[in-house]
Amino acid sequence: MDELKILLSREEIAARVSELARQITADLRGEQVLFVGVLKGAAIFLSDLVRQVQLDATYDFIGVASYGNPRGPRQENVWDSTGEVRLTKDVEHSLRGKNVVLVEDILDTGLTLSFLKRLLLGHQPRRFCVAVLLDKPSRRKLAINADYVGFTIPDEFVVGYGLDYAEKYRNLPDIRVLPGVAAPET
Ligand code: IMP
Ligand code: MG
Repeated sequence: MDELKILLSREEIAARVSELARQITADLRGEQVLFVGVLKGAAIFLSDLVRQVQLDATYDFIGVASYGNPRGPRQENVWDSTGEVRLTKDVEHSLRGKNVVLVEDILDTGLTLSFLKRLLLGHQPRRFCVAVLLDKPSRRKLAINADYVGFTIPDEFVVGYGLDYAEKYRNLPDIRVLPGVAAPET
């Protein structure tokens, strides 16, 4: 894996995750909080984040997939999350009246987050906010932003720290650039 260029080292990620945890702790002080991680990419970010948040908290997971792109690239060297999003695993907790922080690995076109936000707001949480580790604003198709952003990154395909390419590379401790993976012109 050493040939893949490091975009964010494990040390940079750890430092930023600690900052996000401090911010969330300050913003939600005294509240009970339910973190909801989006499978599978956000699992590692969520586990690092929740262990540093000093709140009465618990967590759950939700799973989504895009039609036409269930497990990574649709065509070789092209990734695409333009498909319709569908739920593959619902949350187990009721979100009604809860303070919910949705935790996602990366905000790209915004389709996934828009779908999840609409779905989860339908549960009528008391408070709802979104934390993403990475944000690629240049790829946005829908006007949606996160309340907490770890890093804003350029339009490159990245892997590691939970992020995959066709299920590979999730366990890399640093975030690396996978070259030659281009976004479709849509
Ligand atoms: P969106 O619906 O286009 O915002 O896409 C969000 C999802 O696309 C993320 O949860 C990832 O699964 C995937 N994704 C987008 N960009 C990347 C990337 O650079 N590396 C790995 N997965 C990505
Ligand atoms: Mg994902």
